[in-house]
Amino acid sequence: MSEGKDIPLVGGKSFTAVAINCAAKAGEWIKTKLGNHTSLSIKYSAQDLVTEVDKGAETMIRNLVGTHFPHHSFLGEEGVEPGPEASAKALQSVQDAEYLWIVDPVDGTTNFVHGFPFFSVSIALAYQGEVIVGVVYDPMRDELFVAEKGKGAYVRGRRMAVSGEAALRDSLLASGFPADPNYAQPLNMKQLQAIAPQVRNVRSVGSAALHMAYVASGRVSGFWEVGLNAWDLAAGALLVKESGGKVTDMQGNDYHLGVRHVAATNGRIHDELLQALQQAETAGT
Ligand code: IPD
Ligand code: CA
Ligand code: CA
Repeated sequence: MSEGKDIPLVGGKSFTAVAINCAAKAGEWIKTKLGNHTSLSIKYSAQDLVTEVDKGAETMIRNLVGTHFPHHSFLGEEGVEPGPEASAKALQSVQDAEYLWIVDPVDGTTNFVHGFPFFSVSIALAYQGEVIVGVVYDPMRDELFVAEKGKGAYVRGRRMAVSGEAALRDSLLASGFPADPNYAQPLNMKQLQAIAPQVRNVRSVGSAALHMAYVASGRVSGFWEVGLNAWDLAAGALLVKESGGKVTDMQGNDYHLGVRHVAATNGRIHDELLQALQQAETAGT
């Protein structure tokens, strides 16, 4: 892929190579800090945590991207004020950028803090609002999930494909427990209660980006969660699409950077999942 502008570049690396390099470098460093973080603060709610490792990893990625592509824009979780309104505003301020890097330096901070070994680095590059590169790196398993628009998605050098289940009753789903106690958490819980009896089971490993990568690699049939941000989803959305799956909001509109309430599936169970989610939302109370 060419830069599209006459910018002198040191090294002239491809977008994907830079994304992989950033994710690998940050991921290795994050792993060395497991059990060693020194500061822990609360952000939007008591369930929304941040450590010096989240901030350090984001700075590392921002600096590395800036070295290769100094004129590109950057949206990283730790550069944005906490809470859904501030996130939406931050995205609005950069979404018209020609090239935009969208980064969650540690997706699964609660797991990282507790030593529960599921967290990831999520890096996406959007060109004119559309994701063209997506990388999710799981440093604990040394698994790097990578997708380029139109070129497929890969893990451990093998092309990924979504799973084959055609009905919810045969499906293994994933979801999260959102940190926003006012809106996202109660709605997600309501949906979980409605969905659980309709599927084989539901898993929640605490990293939305990894859940998306697991949909892409066929390890789960689908994933939904209310109240996510662009940095949780952008890389994973391309992984799922390039693996033959489907990513929409909960009304069935195609994924775009502003989607916060997401459904990502193997495609075959998509309509049935959306219907079940919508029924749960409107049912009762
Ligand atoms: C969180 C994780 C978690 C999801 C939360 C996210 P963070 O991201 O993706 O799985 O349930 O909604 O906020 O805060 O660890 O980057
Ligand atoms: Ca996140
Ligand atoms: Ca994070």
